[in-house]
Amino acid sequence: MLIAGNWKMFKGPGEAESFFDAFDAPAGVDVVFCPPYVSLAAAVATGRTIYAQNVHWEPTGAYTGEVSAEMLRELGVDGALVGHSERRQLFGETDENVARRARAALEAGLGVIACVGETLEQRESGDTELVLKIQVEALAFAAGEHERLVIAYEPVWAIGTGKTATPEQAQAAHAFIRGLLDRPVLYGGSVKPENAAELLSQPSVDGALVGGASLDPDSFAAICRAASTS
Ligand code: 13P
Repeated sequence: MLIAGNWKMFKGPGEAESFFDAFDAPAGVDVVFCPPYVSLAAAVATGRTIYAQNVHWEPTGAYTGEVSAEMLRELGVDGALVGHSERRQLFGETDENVARRARAALEAGLGVIACVGETLEQRESGDTELVLKIQVEALAFAAGEHERLVIAYEPVWAIGTGKTATPEQAQAAHAFIRGLLDRPVLYGGSVKPENAAELLSQPSVDGALVGGASLDPDSFAAICRAASTS
């Protein structure tokens, strides 16, 4: 089981250090933290597994605001998220550039958690599998079944809304993704200590990508404990 905490634009270096002082990880579960760029160095210094929230596909260049895989490696970062729906929806990321980011990071020796998922409108119009297929196949084409690639299924309608996919909805989407690309699939979208065990008990759910509930050391530890027993 892999449990990843995506802190989004929360916790500068000081708050990150306070979090790690208070966080007590259970044994038997792989835990990854994705702090904002400015807190990566402080997080790496704890010895924990740290991923960035994005990564560019070129090693260097005139790309204001971007950070490369080589730079992350120099800092001791282990991997990166790519294709989070907030990046896709608010910052114009496409299936093509998400795939390029994933491939570059994997080739540079980083791990990658690549996010996919449908919007509410797409689900309601019956297009969930079509959307997942397009997103996953772009990743599969760029990266194949790379051993350091993990997929995160994050239905957009469940992110930060308190609405979680039912365990059956998550299981169906994960099994579909798994049929397209044989890599582990994490579930993300309003995962909380109260619903983690049931989601993680689904056969095709290999872990979780947690947003809001990863910001509090006690609630994140509770989710990690649920994973360690499922
Ligand atoms: P929430 O857990 O806050 O819904 O966020 C999920 C997410 O986007 C993790 O990447």
